[in-house]
Amino acid sequence: MAKTLITAALPYVNSYIHLGHLAGAYLPADMYARFLRLTGREVLFVCGSDEHGVAITISAEKEKTTPQAIIDKYHPMNEQAFAGFGMSFDIYSRTSLPTHHDTAKEFFKDWLNKGLLIEKEEPQFFDETANMFLPDRYVEGICPNCKKDGARGDQCDSCGATYEQTALISPKSVISGKSPIVKSTKHWYFKMGEFQDQLEEYIESHSKDWKDHVLQQSRSWLKQGLNDRAATRDMKWGIQVPVDGADGKVIYVWFEAVLGYISATKHWAQNNGLDEHAWKDWWSDPKGEDRNYVAFLGKDNIVFHTLIFPMLLMSKGEMILPQYVPANEFLNFEGKKFSKSKNWGIFLRDYQQDFPGESNADILRYALATNLPETKDSDFTWKDFQARNNNELAAIFGNFINRVVVLTNKYYEGVIPESTVDLNDAYEPLRKLVKELTDNLDAFSFKSASNAFIEIASYGNIFFQEKEPWKLWKEDPD
Ligand code: 2FM
Ligand code: ZN
Repeated sequence: MAKTLITAALPYVNSYIHLGHLAGAYLPADMYARFLRLTGREVLFVCGSDEHGVAITISAEKEKTTPQAIIDKYHPMNEQAFAGFGMSFDIYSRTSLPTHHDTAKEFFKDWLNKGLLIEKEEPQFFDETANMFLPDRYVEGICPNCKKDGARGDQCDSCGATYEQTALISPKSVISGKSPIVKSTKHWYFKMGEFQDQLEEYIESHSKDWKDHVLQQSRSWLKQGLNDRAATRDMKWGIQVPVDGADGKVIYVWFEAVLGYISATKHWAQNNGLDEHAWKDWWSDPKGEDRNYVAFLGKDNIVFHTLIFPMLLMSKGEMILPQYVPANEFLNFEGKKFSKSKNWGIFLRDYQQDFPGESNADILRYALATNLPETKDSDFTWKDFQARNNNELAAIFGNFINRVVVLTNKYYEGVIPESTVDLNDAYEPLRKLVKELTDNLDAFSFKSASNAFIEIASYGNIFFQEKEPWKLWKEDPD
């Protein structure tokens, strides 16, 4: 049977989910999953917490606690907030689980066996005060590409460039604030160059169906030529490199987090009492049975899903690749970027505290869904939120339902009259759509208002248009 695997980027579990996350990846993924389920397609919708990497350890340092305490604090909160928002994940997993550690280690050993990793001593920034190497976000400086300040050791959020960390201009340790020294350290580098041709072919095979910015970012990486890239880091927190004598080295978070989608599928299979190979049915298609994979994410995650993850899947062989990567742009809040450090934005849990309950979740879903940053950044404002609720949901939509109900009672004694047209004719597409929706009410998310709407639409609206289309709209129901 046809199956679609849907993944939504695993959020770092160092903070709360905010509205920008929802609009960037999670709401579109959920809408798509619900839509496909309505059409009768088998769907597996996978997500979970990304629990390793410097994002977590820095938060632990800031909150003066341990990485374990950080992930144990935020994972359940995010899971709960997502559930309250109506996310229909089939599994919300976490990368600290043994299943994920085992999966990532298996992949790493496979890369070693296939000669895809090479050991090298390379210079890295080292903080002499803190007595530690400074991987990724532990160091910040000026981006060697766009020259903007605030670029991190592994990536510049302003222009999306990645580089060797020692290329950063005016680097500063995030721990001590001091300029680091450069010191050699041994790491395992993934020979990305071996996948250059295959990845070019993969990206170009989607030149007609992927969004421009997804193609652009992927092509720009490929154009620079794929070089060896460190797949390990000097850190204690993370997945230990499964090689003797590699103490204090972990797998680079981006080389294992993406594999978290696979481990989450295994986790889902375990939860459902399926056999240990059941996950493969979603990740490979040996019999040509129509398997699709769609990966949802925000624009800061693009190349990791269009190049790095596909490369890791290619390295394994016989795995399906993301067929569509509908990365969104960013949602801003009142004209400015969401920023935890600048204390600017709205956490989902705060919204849920101020506006509790399912129908308030639906209002937020509606306000975000009508303003998704699909092709350019969009802006969430409270004024717009209020207008969407008051003018669109309450006034237009609510009024529509109210009038249909009132007028049906007034003119037809509350009983919907027989349709006078052949529904297999002009109204067939509408009839089909309505049937799909009514057959699947449980899966439909805008529950409170939509149930009423669908009930009316399933007969009333068709009738409504068949007769004198606008007459009833204009008549005062009272
Ligand atoms: O940007 C983030 O929050 C990352 N944790 C996304 C990871 S997606 C995948 F690799 F899991
Ligand atoms: Zn830059």
